[in-house]
Amino acid sequence: MKNIVLTGFMGTGKTTIGRVLAKSLGRVLIDLDAEIEKKMGMKITDIFAEMGEAAFRDMETEMARTISTLSNAVISTGGGIVLRKENIELLRTNGIVVNLTAEPDVLYARLASATDRPLLNVADPLAKIRELLQFRRPFYQNADIVIDTGDKTPIIVAEEIIQSAKLMGR
Ligand code: S3P
Repeated sequence: MKNIVLTGFMGTGKTTIGRVLAKSLGRVLIDLDAEIEKKMGMKITDIFAEMGEAAFRDMETEMARTISTLSNAVISTGGGIVLRKENIELLRTNGIVVNLTAEPDVLYARLASATDRPLLNVADPLAKIRELLQFRRPFYQNADIVIDTGDKTPIIVAEEIIQSAKLMGR
């Protein structure tokens, strides 16, 4: 069975929905960022601070390559994975790519108390969310299934993903 790969901006619920999906499908959940943290023995915030974003992006591609060899898994990714087309091509070789979306104000509310998002550690996080979303929109659209998470519970979103994946016959 193909992997289910969750993409989407920070705060769209990739990790939470990934957990629900993995449980209801009886699959393993692989969190790409958590795998990078394990491999490096460092938190993502420290990787950004000490090694820079470019080094982190290389780690993401390397991990996408490793993870793309799996099957039957639910894979949650970091919000910037879509920025390199190569990453999505790798993850799609054996996976259905799902993009989770939400409006900027919803994301802002969900992320308001988070301290582990280095890209949003700025004076005006809502403006940064809007700016990043606008730039990234075309990259996120490179997906097989797009689902808005705005007013839905993780269980409902997971159910929609399962139904859509079934319709795709995979
Ligand atoms: C990032 C999203 C984060 C993490 C890193 C960069 C991004 O993951 O990979 O801070 O560029 O959007 P989450 O989407 O899981 O927060």
